Amino acid sequence: TTVTIVLGTRPEIIKLAPVIDACEEREIAYSVVHTGQHYSEELDTVFFDQLELPAPDHNLGVGSGSQSEQTGAMIREIETVLLDEQPELVLVQGDTNSVLAGAIAASKLDCEVGHVEAGLRSFDRTMPEEVNRVLADHAADYCFAPTEQAAGYLREEGIDDDDTIHVTGNTIVDAVMGYRDLAAAKSDVLGELGLDAGDFCLLTAHRAENVDDRERFESLLDGVARFARDADLDVVYPVHPRANERLAAFDLAMPDEITPIDAQDFLDFLRLESTATLVLTDSGGVQEETCILGTPCVTLRDNTERPETVDVGANRIVGVAADGIVTGAHEALSQQNGWENPFGDGHSADRILDIAGIGSAASVGEVHG
Ligand code: UD1
Ligand code: UDP
Repeated sequence: TTVTIVLGTRPEIIKLAPVIDACEEREIAYSVVHTGQHYSEELDTVFFDQLELPAPDHNLGVGSGSQSEQTGAMIREIETVLLDEQPELVLVQGDTNSVLAGAIAASKLDCEVGHVEAGLRSFDRTMPEEVNRVLADHAADYCFAPTEQAAGYLREEGIDDDDTIHVTGNTIVDAVMGYRDLAAAKSDVLGELGLDAGDFCLLTAHRAENVDDRERFESLLDGVARFARDADLDVVYPVHPRANERLAAFDLAMPDEITPIDAQDFLDFLRLESTATLVLTDSGGVQEETCILGTPCVTLRDNTERPETVDVGANRIVGVAADGIVTGAHEALSQQNGWENPFGDGHSADRILDIAGIGSAASVGEVHG
């Protein structure tokens, strides 16, 4: 095998889909290892089907667990597969436990490791994702940074500039550009949910630091509901299984202003993001996608590792206090759209394979902002 791609969660499947497509086009001998961190159909197989990805060559079936239980099981299982596959390059993407496990296992074997979406920093080490990012970057031979700012953080941490750090753009741009028009043509989600384009808000909230804390989760829902009432806008909330489980465990009632719906497939979700008046989210990927699609975003967190979205005027960080959400959401609604997408030109996947010297080069050159 030339390249082994390790993935395990919804965002990794979406953001590595363009890399898998590029491997197919170049006719590279590659394999896909699915850790099984996500296993519910709505977080997993629905994306393989819709993005027309081949089934993973290996599914490790690790599932849910405590941080170290889950990560440890993944490291052990990934090592077994890599010893068998003997790849030249292992690619991981993002900041989940699957990324950390893939990076650690691969870095101790005779292969190179590439971290896609390297150099993101929230500077909040209480988040498991921040620990995963830092460790994966320092285990990698290639840090594929989406932006110059991310590359700068890596340099500040002493990572070898010329050999290791490469600014490639973010593969989410490849995915959004590839599927946006298809979503507009094919998705009937607005009709199914009885929504009018430009007349509703989209909410996602699933982060451990928000939904695992009863007070924070309640305050977040309360703030969004108060804003919806003030602005007279419907809110739809595709609920991640983690949030669903917490809602039940905390016996939290969903405010009337917020309509919970199932987690959506990619085309329906892109359609909702493209046509929403405003998106409220604690997701990383959703901050990027709204910025690319031109929809204003309010981030229900105390910090972000995607400051580029704030700098271009697409996003504001409002925390989870109800007052802050209401004020921030009104501000976001009244501002001008029309910012520049800071995440690249949609050729990130080819650029990544070109830099790693995998297959015949597509020669997409350097990324320009
Ligand atoms: C993980 C990532 C997070 C990412 C998110 C993407 C880590 C530390 N966190 O969070 O950064 O934003 O994926 O969606 O890696 N569950 C299911 N079905 C599944 C998977 C999970 O029901 O297929 C439920 C289980 O109750 C599980 C809980 O969700 O205990 C949390 O799952 P876990 O994989 O630990 O983290 P996520 O919250 O999905
Ligand atoms: N997404 C989706 N359906 C949904 C919610 C999100 O397809 O109901 C997609 C979204 O388009 C983005 C990715 O999932 O590409 C973001 O994943 P998530 O928010 O789970 O993780 P994060 O980006 O925060 O790690």
